[in-house]
Amino acid sequence: MRNLLLQLDSSRHPSVFDQVVALDGGADQVMSYGGVTPEDVRDLVHGCIFTRGAKDLKHTAVWIGGNNMSQGEQLLAMALDAMFEPLTVSVMLDSNGSNTTAVAAVVKIEQALGDLKGRKVLVLAGTGPVGQRAAGLLARDGARVTITSRKPEQGEKARQFITARFNVSVEAVTMSDPSKAAEVLDGVEVLLNAGSAGIQMVSRAAWTAQKSLKVAVDLNAVPPLGLEGIEVNDAGAQRDGVLCFGAFGVGNFKTKLHKRCVGRLFEKNDLVLDAEAIADIARELVTEKQ
Ligand SMILES: NC(=O)c1ccc[n+]([C@@H]2O[C@H](COP(=O)([O-])OP(=O)(O)OC[C@H]3O[C@@H](n4cnc5c(N)ncnc54)[C@H](OP(=O)(O)O)[C@@H]3O)[C@@H](O)[C@H]2O)c1
Repeated sequence: MRNLLLQLDSSRHPSVFDQVVALDGGADQVMSYGGVTPEDVRDLVHGCIFTRGAKDLKHTAVWIGGNNMSQGEQLLAMALDAMFEPLTVSVMLDSNGSNTTAVAAVVKIEQALGDLKGRKVLVLAGTGPVGQRAAGLLARDGARVTITSRKPEQGEKARQFITARFNVSVEAVTMSDPSKAAEVLDGVEVLLNAGSAGIQMVSRAAWTAQKSLKVAVDLNAVPPLGLEGIEVNDAGAQRDGVLCFGAFGVGNFKTKLHKRCVGRLFEKNDLVLDAEAIADIARELVTEKQ
């Protein structure tokens, strides 16, 4: 039986990236819908669950993407609401690659440091979809996480969202511009840049001066890179005594993870793959490699 992936994308054009990786990851066909709103979801999902018998439903799954994470979360809630036992299909949420990217970065950090309990972590621009997910997962690992934002109210809103979504405690500080980086880096052991593409967040002088720093990860692949001096292909490079990962150093693992998750969707008919479950799959991938 063919594996069918229903792609529900909140953006006008359903993501081509997601379509390609879905086909590479185990879908035989991707049924793509763009500009999907919460009101559209019920009927689209019913098209999945009423067509094949319950025992064959693992061959159909739902993928939720799009540029906007909060819209993606609404689509996920509606998709789950539209299903009932035994007529369920597996679902994954990865709006703009936020879950797979955040998880890939977090797992690289876990691999580098082992136990993160009590570690001081700074997530730069932790207000975006990737930063919020990463901050939540790192806090779940027991790290003492602080996110930055240029605006106090934005930082506080994201802090509250992360706290509620992951049931953890995180701090928010304002970093109005890169000249303030040295202050917020004080005592930080892990630095994760989740700032927008093409924005330099921290100068090389600022992060290399921080003697407590052990791991630095930059998720921005678009020049100028987010952490000056870290190369986009860095995958554990030692620079000034700091283990460094660039966007492609994390992105290669992210793509592997993305494919593995798609494959997993077709193994059962009741999986819900959001940040935590995706992190578990990423840790399995790491263990297999060892
Ligand atoms: N490697 C991969 O596979 C992969 C996949 C997906 C995404 N990414 C990258 O991961 C990073 C985070 O993605 P995202 O979608 O979460 O990012 P985003 O939503 O575009 O931006 C994250 C935060 O960056 C801050 N920001 C925006 N413009 C800025 C500016 N001009 N100066 C300073 N800060 C600015 C904003 O925070 P405040 O307004 O609160 O300051 C924003 O909330 C991006 O660099 C993206 O390209 C990588």
